[in-house]
Amino acid sequence: MILEGDCFELIKQQPDNSVDLIITSPPYADIVNYGKNISIQKPADYCDWLLPLFDDIYRVLKPSGSFILNINDTCKGGYRNPFIYELIYRSQKETKLKFYDTYIWHKRNGIPNGSLKRFRNTTEFIFHFVKNQKELKFYMDKVLQDTNIETKKRFERNGLFKPQGEVIDGVRINGERDLIVKDKVRPDNVFRFSTAGAARDNTIKHPAPFHKQFPTYFINLLTDEGDIVLDVFAGIGTTGLACKELNRGFIGYELNPKYVEFGNKRISGQGYEAEEYVINQYDGEGNFIQSFDSPIAIEKHFGKPCVNNIKNILRGFKRNFTLWGYEWKLEKNNFENTNNKSI
Ligand SMILES: C[S@@+](CC[C@H](N)C(=O)[O-])C[C@H]1O[C@@H](n2cnc3c(N)ncnc32)[C@H](O)[C@@H]1O
Repeated sequence: MILEGDCFELIKQQPDNSVDLIITSPPYADIVNYGKNISIQKPADYCDWLLPLFDDIYRVLKPSGSFILNINDTCKGGYRNPFIYELIYRSQKETKLKFYDTYIWHKRNGIPNGSLKRFRNTTEFIFHFVKNQKELKFYMDKVLQDTNIETKKRFERNGLFKPQGEVIDGVRINGERDLIVKDKVRPDNVFRFSTAGAARDNTIKHPAPFHKQFPTYFINLLTDEGDIVLDVFAGIGTTGLACKELNRGFIGYELNPKYVEFGNKRISGQGYEAEEYVINQYDGEGNFIQSFDSPIAIEKHFGKPCVNNIKNILRGFKRNFTLWGYEWKLEKNNFENTNNKSI
């Protein structure tokens, strides 16, 4: 259930030691607009704004709990602003949360920036904080990855597979290291979740929802069935959707009442699941040419950057535009024409 209101106030009502996992993505210090009453923080003010929430996050987490924070930095005046590093540094000086690990989210379909002196940015940070690492719930066996073919061959050549021992949930439990579990390996700390295109129906647009893969992964890794998960910047409730599918309790806070309504309907399964959209290319006379599932696919196909028009169409700010003599439209995927995949 998403509650409408300011997370800095709502979290005060949450009892101490009552939440197993907090997973969230706050507004970044950038230009994304979440509605008229939702303030955009400047990088210089960001830590003073967000850090007070960390104290309550510490208070409401159970000792075995985790706080997963997805955030990214921003470029201004040609330079990267280091406010994220300041956030991590100050969190360790000013709050009781313990900084446990950094993960990188490698986005399969990052947005082009058009600069010839800066690489395309396809990564975001995921920071993992805990209350007490000795009590931390962490179910590696729930997120083991399939061993790739090359590794399997190498292991077989070197005789590292010993087919004895019992495997439960992909983990061999005879005391040997994970290296010898035949078909599964420990994940590395780079995650390859997709980005969700802006979720849309006729009435609502959210510019930056999670893809459901993101909360699903961490809920499996860090909680048990029946546990309580909180998303303090809940948006349209993607974390809630993942919780519902995985039998976890969910609490969300969100300031924008439209997102609250849409998110709660989405979580309760009232036909509001985001539709899959594609970008369709038409010639000057309105004849359909082909579909693309992402800006990267368009760039690959044409061999040049397509920048802001595509960015805006994906964020739902525009529905169509003209570029390179073609008409481009954001339309529902009919799953027949999308032959230009980015991956
Ligand atoms: C990056 S989005 C989160 C999207 C979410 N992960 C999803 O999948 O829909 C951040 C959200 O925080 C909301 N927000 C901003 N300030 C807030 C506050 N003080 N309290 C609660 N929500 C806030 C914004 O309206 C926006 O929907």
